[in-house]
Formats: sequence, C-alpha cells, structure tokens
Amino acid sequence: MTQSILFVCLGNICRSPLAEAAFRDECRRAGVSMVIDSAGTGHWHAGQEPDDRAIAVAAKNGVDIAHLRARQVTTNDFRDFDHIVALDNQNMADLKAVAPKDGRAEMSLLLDHVEDRAGQDVADPYYGDDGAFDVTWGEVTEAARNLISKLTNN
Ligand code: 4NP
Repeated sequence: MTQSILFVCLGNICRSPLAEAAFRDECRRAGVSMVIDSAGTGHWHAGQEPDDRAIAVAAKNGVDIAHLRARQVTTNDFRDFDHIVALDNQNMADLKAVAPKDGRAEMSLLLDHVEDRAGQDVADPYYGDDGAFDVTWGEVTEAARNLISKLTNN
C-alpha cells in the first residue's frame, strides 16, 4: 500500500515546503512512490506560495517549489495520513493539541530521523539570512533520506 506523509511547520512557507520538496526528490531518486504533502499549524499564510528564499534554496538544489500553496493542518489530516512529521517541538505540541481522538497518523519530529539530533528543532529560518535556508535544506534532506530508508525498510 502506498504510504502517506505530511510535514508540518508553523507557516507552511519555509520549513515544511522544503521538507516536502526534499522528501519528494529523494523518493524520486529512490524510485519510491508516496503521497507527500505539507501544512502549517497557523493559518496566516494559507493560500500563499513559499517564501522567496525557500523557493531559491530549493531551486539551487534542483527542485521547483514555486507552485506549492500554504494550507493549515486539519483534523482530517490525522485520519488521512500514515505519518505526520513536525519540524519543531512547538509544532508537535500544537499538533497534539488539535489531534482528534480517532487520529491514526504516527507522529514524529523531523530531526528524530537524523543521528544525534533526536528531539531537536529544525530552526525557523524565517527571521534568518539566506544561509539559514541552506542549513534548513541540509537538515530536511538528510532527514528525508533516512526517513525513506526507514519507511521502506532498506
Ligand atoms: P515556517 O516559517 O513555519 O517554517 O513556514 C515561518 C513563516 C512565517 C512565520 C513564522 C514562521 N510568521 O510568523 O509569519
């Protein structure tokens, strides 16, 4: 069965679209088919395209994310997705606060999937410089590779 995975940050314009993009690209490389999406715990940026700096760092790494549009996480996401991956601990707390009783998604922190980074936050690059987005890209790419291996038992 095709697995499904949702990446969640605060605004859905910086970190989670990059996680979605890196994961989709790594799936393509690995020949793995998965349903992949991202969302934000907040609603402020719903309908907007990713931050220009996120679009730029993805493009620099060969992935176009300009077509993505932000959306807020919904209670149905907890029923529909097999895996929900929070980008930081605050996102995780906010997700747990709205999770419905019949939610079935397995929840984890993105950096739980990177050696020696378990429990850590993917720092929000929103108030940082372009270099902060390079750091984010590196983190989401490493996590994506490890996650795909785990989910496909390779
Ligand atoms: P994201 O970054 O959660 O990685 O998409 C942010 C985007 C916008 C805001 C905060 C974080 N904001 O406060 O508008």
